[in-house]
Amino acid sequence: MLVASVLSLKGGVGKTTVTLGLASAARQRGISTVVVDLDPQSNATTTLEPQGFEATIADVLGNPTVAVMALAIRPSAWGESVRVLAGSEAAERHNNPDPSRTRLNRLRIGVGRIYPAPDLVLIDCPPSLGQLTRNGLVASDRAILVTEPALYAVTGVQRALEAVHDERVRSNPGLRPLGVVVNRARTRSVEQEYRYTELKDLFGPLVLSPNLPDRSAIQQAQGAGIPIHDWPTAGAREVAAVFDTLLDRLLRSASRAT
Ligand SMILES: Nc1ncnc2c1ncn2[C@@H]1O[C@H](COP(=O)(O)OP(=O)(O)OP(=O)(O)O)[C@@H](O)[C@H]1O
Ligand SMILES: [Mg+2]
Repeated sequence: MLVASVLSLKGGVGKTTVTLGLASAARQRGISTVVVDLDPQSNATTTLEPQGFEATIADVLGNPTVAVMALAIRPSAWGESVRVLAGSEAAERHNNPDPSRTRLNRLRIGVGRIYPAPDLVLIDCPPSLGQLTRNGLVASDRAILVTEPALYAVTGVQRALEAVHDERVRSNPGLRPLGVVVNRARTRSVEQEYRYTELKDLFGPLVLSPNLPDRSAIQQAQGAGIPIHDWPTAGAREVAAVFDTLLDRLLRSASRAT
């Protein structure tokens, strides 16, 4: 089982989009996946529409027993191979600025108790680096950072990388940053080109390629609750190919580590 968190300091840069895109790519290949919705906004849960869950991430962060995990995880509308650990607004109460080590370990314990164990766990983090995201990092083997090529991108990525590094040193020596996904890339934007070069100069090979282009298919597929690999437009195919490459990279990084 490989566990990856998708995070950013800023909101609205594409964490949920990357989580759903990777889940779609994994589904296409028959890789069993659990999407953990750590964000109190619960956007991933809204798109994936798990039915009949009787507990949520808030209960898991309170008491991650085998029974609670079983009640919180359900198959998504995408089928049995993509399950969801449902998000909840109530998760906000677990977002204390200075949590204890015990609290930070709860998702890690819960993820180890998913039955049956999936091949891949994707954790969609909220737009902050507080306790919820730290719970995700403590539970993860890999961290995927997301940014737009815009003003303050460098600082945002730097802060997120520091959070990954801190959690690695404090409690999770197996955690590695996979890299930075640059989202909503538009060709022929001079400003974006400048910001992209800035990111490349500072973070070098950690900046993943290809970029994720800005395509309306992403919003359309998400709104319809359909995996991007099943959305029948050229834009969707282009985006799906980027997620295939990203999934390859994620799986390769795991096989190198073992
Ligand atoms: N490459 C893209 N092309 C077009 N639309 C996109 C792209 N990436 C994201 N979006 C849209 O932008 C909005 C924000 O994206 P998303 O929800 O993935 O960001 P987020 O980082 O998860 O946000 P939050 O911090 O609020 O959780 C969504 O409506 C999404 O469909
Ligand atoms: Mg989100």
